[in-house]
Amino acid sequence: MRHLMNPLDFTTKELEKLFDLANDIERNPAKYAHACEGKKLATCFYEPSTRTRLSFESAMLSLGGQVLGFADASNSSAAKGESVSDTIRIISCYADICAMRHPKEGAPMVAASKSSIPVINAGDGGHQHPTQTLTDLLTIRSLKGRLNSFTIGLCGDLKFGRTVHSLINALVRYENIRFIFISPEELKVPDYIIEMLKEKGISYEEVIRLEDCMPQLDLLYMTRVQKERFFNEEDYVRLKDFYILNKAKMEPAKKDMLVLHPLPRVNEISVEVDDDPRAAYFKQVQYGVYVRMALILTLLEIQV
Ligand code: CP
Repeated sequence: MRHLMNPLDFTTKELEKLFDLANDIERNPAKYAHACEGKKLATCFYEPSTRTRLSFESAMLSLGGQVLGFADASNSSAAKGESVSDTIRIISCYADICAMRHPKEGAPMVAASKSSIPVINAGDGGHQHPTQTLTDLLTIRSLKGRLNSFTIGLCGDLKFGRTVHSLINALVRYENIRFIFISPEELKVPDYIIEMLKEKGISYEEVIRLEDCMPQLDLLYMTRVQKERFFNEEDYVRLKDFYILNKAKMEPAKKDMLVLHPLPRVNEISVEVDDDPRAAYFKQVQYGVYVRMALILTLLEIQV
């Protein structure tokens, strides 16, 4: 039995297979419409979510399976003090596979160690968000045709943004990737990631102004300032609108640059950018469903 805790749990070869399956699902949805008949997915979300929870549920329903779960831990027995370890033992009796989001880093890993069904980390604190990374990689591969040889700018909250940490971890396995980290001093990418890049000899640069690097980018990954992870409101208010991508800032960018964002956005991308053909963040949401369908099939070892 396999779980997914970290994007690195899959080799690059396994990821290629997963993305091929996701693209086949995109082209032939009817072929997969009954693949999970009789199977149940539990979504256990101890933190708010729109995309991840609903895309998992949409994925399972599109595969002919059923869904159950909770979207708010205050309505579950966690509010009475039940541990994650006990909860997953219970969920294992009700469902065939579980997607779990938790504010505590490592909580889905604890659940996986006690589970008799596959557990998927649907985001743990500021740590990892592997299925967002699978979504990001599938989007890039589908729209750019490759996962190597590009310069990617990651912009915004690089300190608390788990999607950023997961994506960097995953991209270092591909050739000729150059990172440009664009953030205010207070929201820089954590030291452990910089150390890892240095050890692997991977090219990176840290800048404060988005304008300084825009023409170099093949991909721009915008992120929200993570209000929920700040210790005080004052710092959040000071930093929240540090970057606002608008039409004028898109002007010097390459004509085929892609703008990605895990969403939700707050102010960091102006709605006037949504109509730019380079804006790929809503397409990214659709790829999130295909890749979660492929992941459910893979972890349940169902072949179509
Ligand atoms: N991208 C993402 O994780 O969105 P949600 O928080 O809405 O699930």
